[in-house]
Order: sequence, then structure tokens, then C-alpha cells
Amino acid sequence: MFIESPRYTERFGSIRLNHVQKVIALDSGLKSELPPHGAMGVIKINEETIKHFEDRMAIVIPVKDEKLKLIEGVVSGVPHDCLVIVVSNSQREKVDRFRMEGDALNQLCRFTVREALIAHQKDPAIGEAMGEAGYDDLLGTDGLVRDGKSEAMLIGLLMAKAAGKEYVGFIDADNYFPGAVLEYVRNYTAGFSLAQSPYSMVRILWQYKPKISGGLFFKKWGRVSEVTNKYLNDLISTRTGFETEVVKTGNAGEHAMSMKLAEILPYASGYAVEPQELVSIFEDFGGILPTKNPKVMDQGIDIFQIETRNPHLHEEKGDEHVQEMLLAAMSTIYHSPLCGAELKRVILAELVKQGILKDGEEPPHIHIATPPKKVNINKFINTIQRDFDKYHVLR
Ligand code: GDD
Repeated sequence: MFIESPRYTERFGSIRLNHVQKVIALDSGLKSELPPHGAMGVIKINEETIKHFEDRMAIVIPVKDEKLKLIEGVVSGVPHDCLVIVVSNSQREKVDRFRMEGDALNQLCRFTVREALIAHQKDPAIGEAMGEAGYDDLLGTDGLVRDGKSEAMLIGLLMAKAAGKEYVGFIDADNYFPGAVLEYVRNYTAGFSLAQSPYSMVRILWQYKPKISGGLFFKKWGRVSEVTNKYLNDLISTRTGFETEVVKTGNAGEHAMSMKLAEILPYASGYAVEPQELVSIFEDFGGILPTKNPKVMDQGIDIFQIETRNPHLHEEKGDEHVQEMLLAAMSTIYHSPLCGAELKRVILAELVKQGILKDGEEPPHIHIATPPKKVNINKFINTIQRDFDKYHVLR
């Protein structure tokens, strides 16, 4: 593929935060001439490099009661060499949707001779393994992992680690275009191939997110992302004294990390997870607050934001859902120790203006799970590996 070279990089402490890079073409051919690195601002990422990273990557797909056709489509778009890990919280009573998901995945994997893992978020063995690892605070009173997309991501991440993967990417299950999924993973690999540090992250910016109202309108920014990006940028600006617009992917559900980075980040509950990843990186490696990871500080963190060629068409879940997501994102910024009094005031005013909070109210604190490196991952791995077969689709 051809991608813009990272033309401008903002440095915040030891973080290298790259401005958005556009995908120029999805394929660059086997024989096409390699443009000299960086010439015309375009880089060729060759197929060999793409395959190198795909082979080392797990793609985690969180699912909750999505249409089966969509899940099938998403899995069919994940490159063959990636390990697919589906973490489902779909209903089991009356109609056992989880079973249907497993059957569909099994068929796809048999036809294409590939392996995949599938687990239910409420599987007692997963709850036990999380408890063994020290993630008691993720469990409900029934001993099972609580609801939430972020909770599913964490299970998937730990399973990817148990499977020995070096990179982990996340892709939502409610995507209408399998071709877009294929592109997300290629974009992940492109970012990783450009990283200087073993601690790297790639976040996807959709070129368009089409809306249907009368006709088809190719909208660029979502209602939540515009606001989240603004305040994440303000969080940086108020600390550096220089206004910036570098953050364009604050809510990116589609994102990937090197396992080394994924292991040292804390994970906020539910839909706060994506903005919190950035906030946590700013806190730990922005050079303003003392770092908890001095060795990582030396190597730095590379963050890439890659704009797709494909538009993103997914299920729309209504206004209440949008407000819930916005409040979650704002809470992560508001409660960060980097957030000063003036920025807090502006955030409160924004949430009141949006009708999400009333005068005098504050965003709730969001539960933040300990980084995997700080818990006993090996206990999780041992418990899961005891019957790892159970999670294999082709058992
Ligand atoms: N396992 C599991 N458990 N999966 C869940 C849960 C859960 O409790 N809740 C939601 N999911 C799955 C959905 O089935 C879907 O595949 C994915 O997580 C995203 O959830 P949605 O509810 O569809 O989120 P969204 O489309 O509104 O928002 C997405 O995009 C945002 C960026 O625009 C999410 O990825 C957000 O996190 C992201 O910020």
C-alpha cells in the first residue's frame, strides 16, 4: 500500500504523536518501483512487511447481540494470518445467539482453514481466570466479568497474550463493509512498520462516516469525536502553552497496540476506554507528571493516526447512546490530574450546553482497570490454558 509519510510529529514528553496520515492507495503492487523513502511525502509499505505484522497480530472483536451477517462479514475481512478472537456478551437464553456466533465462525474457519478463538464474557471460567489474575474489581457479585465493551477488550487482550501475539488490534462487530475491515488491519501494520519504539499504537480515522437522511451524506466527523478531540487537544495545549489540533482519533474504536504498550496501559470501563488510553499515555509519558515506567520513557511512545480510504458504515444506536459515550469520554479528561481548573470549568459548561449534566453536577468517576503488567497475567494464562481448546473454534 501507499501511505503519506508522517509529515509532522508533535512531541509531548517522550510521546511522538503523529498528525493524520492518509492512505494514498490500498495496494502498491509486487513490481512497482519503490519511491525513495519519504520522496513526495509517500511511503510504500510492501506486502511482505504487511504480512510480517499480520502474522504477529490478534484481532479482538467485541460483540453484543449484533446481526450475525455483520459479524460474519467482519471476520471475513480480517486478513488470514491474524488470529481472530471474538469476545461475546450476546444473549444465551431463549435464542442462544452466542452459539449461533460460534457456529458461523466455525463454518468460516473450516472453509478457509484458519484458527480463531471465541469466548463468552460471562463464561465462569473467564471470570475465574480474571479473578486469579487479580482483576476482582472487574467481576460482579456473581463472580462473572461485568458488562462492557472495554471489559471484553481486556479479555481479548489477555487471550492474545496467552496465544503469544506481539500486537493486538480491535475491530467492532457492527461494520457493514468487510473491505473496510481488511483496510483497518493493513493500516495497523503500516503504522507498526513505521514505529521507532516497541511501544506503539495505531488509531484509525475514517475518511467518512456516511449518514442516510434523504440521500446519502458522507459526513466526516461524528458528534462525539469532534468534542472529545477538542478537549484532548486542550489537555495538551493547557500544559504545553501551544494550541494544537493534533488529536483526531480520541474515540477510535478501531485501534491497535504493540503488546508491550497494551500491557502497561490502564483500561477505563465501557466507552471511556479509547480516550482514556490517550489520557493515560499523556499522564505517564507527557513529562509533566512523574512516570511509572521510566524504562519506557527512554524509548518513547509512537502514536499513528491513519485515515482510511474506505468509509465506515455501522449500526446507529441513538441519541442516548451518543450522550453516554460523550459523558464517558469527558469524564476521563475531567478527572485526569493533567486537567486544570479552567479546563474543568469549560468541560462542565460543554456538558451542560449539551444537556448531559445539570448546573452543579460533575462527570462521574469511571472505573479504571489496572494495567495487565501489574496483575498476575500468568495466572490468567495458566487458568485459560488449562482448557484453551474450549475456546478454539475448530476444536
Ligand atoms: N463483548 C461485548 N460486551 N461487546 C460489546 C459490549 C459488551 O458489553 N457492548 C458493546 N459491544 C460491542 C458491540 O457489539 C460492537 O461490536 C462494539 O462493541 C462497539 O459497540 P457499539 O455499542 O456499537 O459502539 P458504537 O458503534 O456506538 O461506538 C463505537 O465507535 C466509537 C467511535 O466512534 C465504539 O467502538 C466506541 O468505543 C468508539 O468510541
